[in-house]
Amino acid sequence: MDNSIRLHYLQALGVDVWLPKTSLIDTPIAAIVEQFIPAINDNWDALQAEVTDCKHCVLCETRTQTVFGSGNKNAEWMIIGDAPGQHEDAQGLSFVDSAGQLLTEMLRAIGLSRDAVFITNIVKCRPPNDRKPHVDELESCHQYLLRQYALVQPKIILVLGALAAQTLLKVDVPISELRGKVHAFNKSPVIVVYHPAYLLRAPSEKQKAWLDLQLAVRTLKDIKG
Ligand code: URA
Ligand code: SF4
Repeated sequence: MDNSIRLHYLQALGVDVWLPKTSLIDTPIAAIVEQFIPAINDNWDALQAEVTDCKHCVLCETRTQTVFGSGNKNAEWMIIGDAPGQHEDAQGLSFVDSAGQLLTEMLRAIGLSRDAVFITNIVKCRPPNDRKPHVDELESCHQYLLRQYALVQPKIILVLGALAAQTLLKVDVPISELRGKVHAFNKSPVIVVYHPAYLLRAPSEKQKAWLDLQLAVRTLKDIKG
C-alpha cells in the first residue's frame, strides 16, 4: 500500500500518526542501502563476518564477542533493543537475560515466537559496566543496523526503549512522547515500546506496553490490508 494512503488510513482509524522531521518514509530502501553499503551485493555472511571482527569503536576493546542479532532473516517484525549486557556478551546472543525473558512473553502475547522475528540491538558490543553507548559508538555501529534492516526488509519495526528509539528515529524526545504513535523509518512503520528491562523495574507501565504492542499488531494488519 502506498505510504500516503496508509497514513491517511491510520489517521482515519484514529491512530495518532507522528512523523519525525527527518522522516525517510518516501525514501526508497535502495537509496539508504546505497548510502551506507560500499558493496553492491550485500549479504548476511559478509555482514556477519564484518561485525564479528569489527573494531570501529572502543567497545571492541572490552567485549567478549559481538552480538549480531538472531531470528528469522525474512521476518515481518524487526525488534531493536539498545545494547548487549553481560549475558549477551558471554553467549553472543541478544536478549538472553531476564529482560529477554520478558521480551519473549511480550512477543508471545501478540502471537509471535522469537524465531518468527528478527531481534538485534543498535550497538553490537556490550559497553563496559553497561554504561550508555556514546554518540560516536552509536554512529559507528549504525551502518550494521541499516544493513540488517535492508536485508530483512521488515514490514514493521518495534524499538525497545528510549535510546534505541531516539537513535533510529533521530529525535531527541522522551519515550513517553514517542510511544503510542506510529512513526516511520524508511518504508516501515515504527512502534516504540518501553524496554522490557524498564518494565521489570516499573511493572505498572506494562499496561502501556501492551497498548503499544496492540497498536503494532493493528498497524501491520492495516498495511497488509
Ligand atoms: N537489553 C537489550 O537492549 N539488548 C539485549 O540484547 C539484552 C538486553
Ligand atoms: Fe564495531 Fe559496533 Fe562493536 Fe563498535 S559496537 S566495535 S562499531 S560492532
